[in-house]
Amino acid sequence: MHPDLTILTDFSLRACNTFGIDATASHYVRVTSVDVLRAALADPVLARLPRLLLGGGSNIVLTGDFHGLVLHMAIDGTQLLDAGDAGVRLVRAGAGQSWHGLVEATLAQDLGGLENLALIPGTVGAAPIQNIGAYGVELKDVFHSASVFDCASGQVRTMTAADCRFGYRDSVFKQADGAALIVLDVTFALPLAWTPTLGYAELASAVREAGLDAPSARQVADLVIAIRRRKLPDPAVIGNAGSFFKNPVVSGARCAAILAAHPGLVHHAQPDGSEKLAAGWLIDQGGWKGRSMGAAGVYAKQALVLVNRGGATGAEVLALARAITADVAARYGVALETEPVFV
Ligand code: EPU
Repeated sequence: MHPDLTILTDFSLRACNTFGIDATASHYVRVTSVDVLRAALADPVLARLPRLLLGGGSNIVLTGDFHGLVLHMAIDGTQLLDAGDAGVRLVRAGAGQSWHGLVEATLAQDLGGLENLALIPGTVGAAPIQNIGAYGVELKDVFHSASVFDCASGQVRTMTAADCRFGYRDSVFKQADGAALIVLDVTFALPLAWTPTLGYAELASAVREAGLDAPSARQVADLVIAIRRRKLPDPAVIGNAGSFFKNPVVSGARCAAILAAHPGLVHHAQPDGSEKLAAGWLIDQGGWKGRSMGAAGVYAKQALVLVNRGGATGAEVLALARAITADVAARYGVALETEPVFV
């Protein structure tokens, strides 16, 4: 057995999920290196158990105790690499590194590119899974490659952006053919000739209001942090998993039909002619903001975010999510999809 492999049993996951739901894992391993991962997967008892990969736990809802092996990814470290491609600086970070910690580390090196993604909870290793995005930038825009452990072959391999098949809050890692892949580290390509990405209206107006003609990456990050602090609950204070629902994408015709009946509908045209609807608006119209079902509630300042008002169970969160989904379907004929994974 590898000296760093420690198997814990009946382990409380309460501190490992940002919703703060109290559930246990029958088996738990903190994965600090690829060797620990190999050793865990080679262990005759652990190898037979269902597996749950955990990063920062900011995108999961635990609906009960987990009877299986939790692999808590804790491979750390950030390295600046020699530029592989002209015009970019490559930065590699371990899967267990905190996402915002990486954003801050790159800004401290005067590297721009990640500033719009400041303060997103979670880890580097989880970022490609749902192609995290905010304020007009998605992970795929700055992604260079990832090292992954393939549980099927036992090999480590490098995946390019094309291999990852990134989409809106989506990637190969969420599909059946990516289920055996465990992200070990991610390499980012950050532009040396950086310019701000200010296409997102709310960020652009924050830059204007701050009187910044040519904001630095640090200044953009600070504005993003301020917007997020204003709108989103801090998981350290009130349990939540960020946006609980994806913004639904519908056809242009469907959007026009909804608009005819609901002129206030917030929608954004997509390059392929489809329309992305603001789930927060759809939910808000039903008067959900601030409401609770049991100890699960809708955040008073943002209808897209469900919160744990104290001691919520996964079942309560699920019941609230179902009630909201049914209400939006009844009023708009739109099917909401949840963003976090239910375990
Ligand atoms: N809105 C309401 N009521 C609400 C919430 C929103 O009417 O309670 C309206 C807003 O006025 C706005 C529109 O809905 O016109 C969109 O709302 P907002 O900008 O707050 O959020 P979003 O665009 O739906 C997305 C991401 C966030 C990301 C922000 C900023 C999704 C599901 N969510 O929200 O991502 O931070 O854009 O880019 O795509 C996350 O994934 O966890 C997350 C927080």
